[in-house]
Amino acid sequence: RVRRLTGLAPTGRLQLGNYLGAIRPMVTAQSTADDDANLVAIVDLHALTVDHRPHEVRAYTLEQATTLLAAGVDPASTTIYVQSQLPEHTELHYLLECVASHGEVHRMIQFRQRAQASGTGHSRLSLLTYPVLMAADILLHDTDEVPVGEDQRQHLELARDLASRFNNRYGETFTVPRAVTPRVAARIMDLSDPGAKMGKSRRSGQGVIYLLDPPDVLRRKIARAVTDQGREIRHDPIGQPGVANLLEIIAAGADTEPAEVAAGLSSYRQLKETAAEVVIDLLAPIQRRYLTLARDPHQVRAVLTAGRDRARTRASATVARARRALGLL
Ligand code: TYM
Repeated sequence: RVRRLTGLAPTGRLQLGNYLGAIRPMVTAQSTADDDANLVAIVDLHALTVDHRPHEVRAYTLEQATTLLAAGVDPASTTIYVQSQLPEHTELHYLLECVASHGEVHRMIQFRQRAQASGTGHSRLSLLTYPVLMAADILLHDTDEVPVGEDQRQHLELARDLASRFNNRYGETFTVPRAVTPRVAARIMDLSDPGAKMGKSRRSGQGVIYLLDPPDVLRRKIARAVTDQGREIRHDPIGQPGVANLLEIIAAGADTEPAEVAAGLSSYRQLKETAAEVVIDLLAPIQRRYLTLARDPHQVRAVLTAGRDRARTRASATVARARRALGLL
């Protein structure tokens, strides 16, 4: 039996990359036959590692929970909860800091990029230790598989290293997890800057497809997507990153291959129109359900509380195991 967990940081509104990279794989994998195998955490502590507004983190947490439900994450078979409501995360974080080295977390590419973006000397200490908290999120639940986008691969390697090192030094304690990335669309790029990853906290949302963007906004954003010089339509992520990105979005949305999509299209205009239709069709049912669910925030909060309670038993057993192994009385 395989246990899966993924995490989403409430630093903004959920976007297409989050859906294709992490949420949809969780939805596809869930099965009502086993209500202990799948977990989705809204990792709010991670949102505190960069400059943040308290009321926004709270609002995004609830909005993301609502969006997850709308996207088909079924609380009857998947445990949905908020990281900070399960204090075992922070406890395990500290214990793992005692097997992680300063050098290995310093090497994390995302830390370097984000620290640079926040200006030298002003990045939070928690930004440096963020990947260790992420490892704690994963190891806490004996996770086998972690559905994520390509950008999280390095963090997953760290989680694996920490789990193996801990097991070797202090005895079998953790399951060693592995990253699972989708075959297509593991790294969706920003529409207005195909050299950069599409991200929920980018300053301008013009190149970002938010899951709750209405159809006219989606059409406009996709129509303005940066394509490339030339007119050929090939799937060439290096030579034609803008075109390749749209091809991947269509392929992921319509469940086919980028090269196959390319073969059926003859102009950039047709490429964009097709992309807009596919995305609108993909998101319409999510948006419809969101509207209904958003009318009852108490119901969504109740789902999160139940999720936390359900996640607790295993989480506290894992922490107890780690404490014992490390020599705590
Ligand atoms: P976050 O919140 O930035 O993104 C959530 C998930 O969405 C994926 N993703 C993408 N996939 C494809 N294309 C994109 N443009 C794109 N943008 C985002 C991310 O890879 C991720 O899977 N550190 C994590 C959150 C986290 C976590 C965890 C994940 C904390 N603890 C434990 C898994 C397990 C993050 O910042 O993801």
